Amino acid sequence: MFIKRFGPYFRYLKPVRLQFGIGLAAGLVYAASSGFGIPMVIKVLVPLITQEDKPTGWALAVILLSIPTIFFFRAAGNFVNAYYIAYTGMHVLEQLRISVFSRVQALPMAFFHKNKVGDLMSRIMGDTAQLQTAIVKVVDSLIKEPATLISAAIYLIYLSSVENDVTFILIAMASIPACVLPIKVVGTIILKKARRAQKQAGELTHVLNENLSATREIRAYNLEEREVSRFGDACRDFLVKSLKVVKYDKCLTPTIELVTSLAITFALYMAIQKDIDEGALASILAALYMCYQPIKRLGVVSNTVRKAEASLDRLEEVLHSEDTVPDAIDPAPLDTVKGDILFENVSFRYSDKEAPVLRVINADIKAGEAIAMVGPSGAGKTTFVNLVPRFYDALEGKISIDGRDVRDISKTELRAQMALVSQEAILFGDSIANNIRLGKQDATREEVQAAAKMAQAHDFIEALDNGYDTQVGERGSRLSGGQRQRISIARAFLKDAPIIILDEPTSALDAESEHYIQAALEELSKGRTVLIIAHRFSTIQHADRIFVFDAGEIIATGSHKELYPSNKLYRSLYDKQAKTVHEVDAADS
Ligand SMILES: Nc1ncnc2c1ncn2[C@@H]1O[C@H](COP(=O)(O)OP(=O)(O)OP(=O)(O)O)[C@@H](O)[C@H]1O
Ligand SMILES: [Mg+2]
Repeated sequence: MFIKRFGPYFRYLKPVRLQFGIGLAAGLVYAASSGFGIPMVIKVLVPLITQEDKPTGWALAVILLSIPTIFFFRAAGNFVNAYYIAYTGMHVLEQLRISVFSRVQALPMAFFHKNKVGDLMSRIMGDTAQLQTAIVKVVDSLIKEPATLISAAIYLIYLSSVENDVTFILIAMASIPACVLPIKVVGTIILKKARRAQKQAGELTHVLNENLSATREIRAYNLEEREVSRFGDACRDFLVKSLKVVKYDKCLTPTIELVTSLAITFALYMAIQKDIDEGALASILAALYMCYQPIKRLGVVSNTVRKAEASLDRLEEVLHSEDTVPDAIDPAPLDTVKGDILFENVSFRYSDKEAPVLRVINADIKAGEAIAMVGPSGAGKTTFVNLVPRFYDALEGKISIDGRDVRDISKTELRAQMALVSQEAILFGDSIANNIRLGKQDATREEVQAAAKMAQAHDFIEALDNGYDTQVGERGSRLSGGQRQRISIARAFLKDAPIIILDEPTSALDAESEHYIQAALEELSKGRTVLIIAHRFSTIQHADRIFVFDAGEIIATGSHKELYPSNKLYRSLYDKQAKTVHEVDAADS
């Protein structure tokens, strides 16, 4: 069972197999000196006390020195074993985390709508740690503990042959099944409880993560108390659920001890009956103790495995989650893209339960065209552009670039052909230069500056204390919304891709920078295919064509001159904006 479930993850031990081997070998030294060595020494030493002609001088010294010698081997074995097992454990954990993390990088957007970020964090940090314990410690224990058990059993067999009596082996053997039963029962319960506890650990991280990413809103709406109580509830729930695991985990060892105490009592009784000498008796007790010790530990291991199984389930939900936007098996390489984009009868919805967000969309966009998309909020504009870089795959219909189905192109190559400026400009906690450089990682400082100039960002960047080396803070929190937007536009300029996707790129800009950016965007559009979602109609005027979206459909296409008289929705959207602009102008004057 264990091997079947955890087997595939043993490959993480491969890079550290040498250290792991040393650890295991040291474990065997420890096991043999505990199981066989100690009872043996006791057998030799105890009779010395009552013996008539006691050894003296060197003979005595040698006999006595056997104690520290055995304990030296046991101690050295113990340390080397513990150190190298911890060593391999940490390496395995690192590998595990990296592989779950890489898997998360490859997952489609839809995965992140279904799973909470906090819960994913808890899987990557917490559940991997549980699994690591199982892989490393369990293998160690499965070798070390049975070895101790076997060496103690060998000693008992040896003693039986000396004393000509098999009672003690029988006692040892008979009590094993009595110990295995509680191990099994407790294990099953622990699996169930651990599943709940780990899930709650995810919930706890989720609450924490949500809180820390909305610090401003919490203060603005006086939500501090509500948040404290929400976090408190999650903590309490986690506490209760973890305590249940602890309860069952901790009841196992005492149960086994109780069973073994009965066995030891019985052994003692038998020994009295059979008139065994004190040396043999003490050593029998030591050997029996050495037998039960590993059983006890194996019980603990069984619990560890069960806990890890619960975590493994959670990790496998990530590792084995279906890639809903898979790469073609053997995608043909993509040559330089011209930039034709064709939507044929494309329908899309975010989940099976929901109504379609796009219905039978047809659009033929020629290379070099600039298309503006307008429509009421929620009409599906962002969704439409998200299908081009395959953030999602169309449910029905086909999207092609230069006549090639996007599903036949590798996602990496496809996305290399596009620059995206999304509705919210997301920056990384790095310098401004490095944030722009995300568009082209090997760009020189001159290229970065040129891109920033085109995006009307150069002047404000130069005005900052550290210029291009200014750290933007987490997610760009030290910059204004408009500054962030211009940096993400600069990034798109730098990428210099044949297809440009702009989702309201000027929404956070003041009128003046917007004016400049309009000019820059026009410059950028030359010879490129541009999809631009715009609420501001100043942006639209430069578009070759306008797509009017309504409730998941493109209800009209054409130029402003064509659409204004013929399309009611377009006219009303335009008039509303023109009116607001007018009112602002009137208020200004
Ligand atoms: N991840 C998602 N899961 C489920 N539904 C979604 C998701 N994202 C968007 N939707 C829904 O799809 C519809 C279209 O959303 P979309 O973001 O494409 O609108 P939009 O036209 O870009 O609107 P806006 O102008 O406000 O940005 C909306 O009704 C929205 O509720
Ligand atoms: Mg949108």
